[in-house]
Amino acid sequence: MDNQYLWWRDGVIYQIYPRSFADSNGDGIGDLNGIRSRLDYLAELGVDAIWLSPINPSPDVDFGYDVSNYLDIDPKFGTLADFDALVDEAHRRGIRIVLDLVLNHTSDQHPWFIQSRSSRDNPFRDYYLWRDPAADGGPPNNWQSIFGGSAWEWDAQTGQYYYHMFYKEQPDVNWRNPPVRKALLDVFRFWCDRGVDGYRLDVFNMYFKHPDFPDNPPAVGLRGFDRQKHIYDCDQPEMFPLLREIRAILDSYPERFAVGETFLSTPQKAASYCAAGLLHTTFDFTFLHSPWKPARFLKAIQDWEQALQQEGWPTYVLNNHDNPRSATRYGQGEDDNRLQVAAALLLTQHGTPFLYYGEEIGMRDIPITREMVQDPVGKRFWPLYKGRDGCRSPMQWNDSPNAGFSTGKPWLPVHANYRQRNVSAQQNQPDSLYHFYRKLIQLRKEYPVLRNGFFQPLTFEPQRLLAYLRQNADQTILVALNFGKRPVRLALGGMVRRASWKLLLSNRRDHLPPLKDGLLLPLEGHEVLILLQEA
Ligand code: NOJ
Repeated sequence: MDNQYLWWRDGVIYQIYPRSFADSNGDGIGDLNGIRSRLDYLAELGVDAIWLSPINPSPDVDFGYDVSNYLDIDPKFGTLADFDALVDEAHRRGIRIVLDLVLNHTSDQHPWFIQSRSSRDNPFRDYYLWRDPAADGGPPNNWQSIFGGSAWEWDAQTGQYYYHMFYKEQPDVNWRNPPVRKALLDVFRFWCDRGVDGYRLDVFNMYFKHPDFPDNPPAVGLRGFDRQKHIYDCDQPEMFPLLREIRAILDSYPERFAVGETFLSTPQKAASYCAAGLLHTTFDFTFLHSPWKPARFLKAIQDWEQALQQEGWPTYVLNNHDNPRSATRYGQGEDDNRLQVAAALLLTQHGTPFLYYGEEIGMRDIPITREMVQDPVGKRFWPLYKGRDGCRSPMQWNDSPNAGFSTGKPWLPVHANYRQRNVSAQQNQPDSLYHFYRKLIQLRKEYPVLRNGFFQPLTFEPQRLLAYLRQNADQTILVALNFGKRPVRLALGGMVRRASWKLLLSNRRDHLPPLKDGLLLPLEGHEVLILLQEA
């Protein structure tokens, strides 16, 4: 591992949901100038890059994940000039810009689809996946939409079905059609030329479907979608040459990067797409779905490392815009003790940590009622599933009205706890979660071993305590995380016991106490201990 600092590998990437971060014009929706006004905050937190959820023009059926023009900015977020100003000012602070590219599907309002559905012989017809009905007049095959029901939508005007993995307003494009492939690859070039540093590829492993559209075989599951093995509607072999082509485009610019959102991810699958010459890295979401059990996190790390075989580069994620926040999953009421442990776990891994706006202050999901649901998937499955609005509420900046997010009525309510839980308040409390995140990010910058050192567990079937070493040729760091509220002791064996340790960071003490009997390291409830082996 070379020692040159590479932003996407060695840095921390911070996801912003632009609708909810900072509103500069009082319309209740966050925007690019709002983000620009908060760049100093992000620089002080210490993040290396911001990933913006989609900012292209969109009718917002899926809040930006239904794009109607890949080469422009949605007016609700600003203009191309605002975007250029954001890129420029971010770069001046050493912050890179990562865009979300949604290239599996477009909006049904994209000019390509408007043309495509207008007649069977329209030159854009083959930009999408159109099929005749089955013999019984029903959908061409059994494929399901992950948002519910058949993935095929009947179009009465032209007498065929079109395919959509997500909402019917998000038709999947036909990546096998050369002009489509060319136009979508040009999107990478367009934004690279405008100074964008990297991309997050939305459900990239779905781009190709089996050319013969066979039925998916059955599987055991609750919902229609889960009752199939998704072997024909995603992960087709054509993905690999395409990823090589994408990589070659990125490599033709300095230090560009892409992370793939692996649809229906497993560590093995995610690893297969970031081997040499393919994507720089991919997401595995095991952390995000893990219960508060150290053994489960340990297994997640080991499975991911094992799958990658030191070839691909790992990422770690506790939060994103599709899932309940980690503070809601793990935090108990307004107590942040567990969140400090989670932060240390995330920020001491061998792999790029991704943060989600507000995670650093422990923002909780807002409670959602039937009347306020915005996410169509929440409307559809209510009350079994309430959708994804809970984790998308406005950023809590301060205790002024609307938490300082907007002077207008925010598109989603601000969490009721904002008067106590906000950035300003936590900046003024030295022991806040915010300061703990900052210190961890600083530590990661200061000690290369936290970025490139191998991961070596010290606890093997952890019940309450997870401990591991991060080690390279020059340094060793020991991380011990007490997941429980009662004190525990870590028994140090062999080499580790004989070493002498210096305290780098703890949320419970300023000095390392003498080890009990020379071999037991004591930890308070929910203590994080990060120690450096002295030379
Ligand atoms: C994955 C995105 O994370 C999610 O928000 C979106 O709804 C789907 N892809 C469809 O684009």
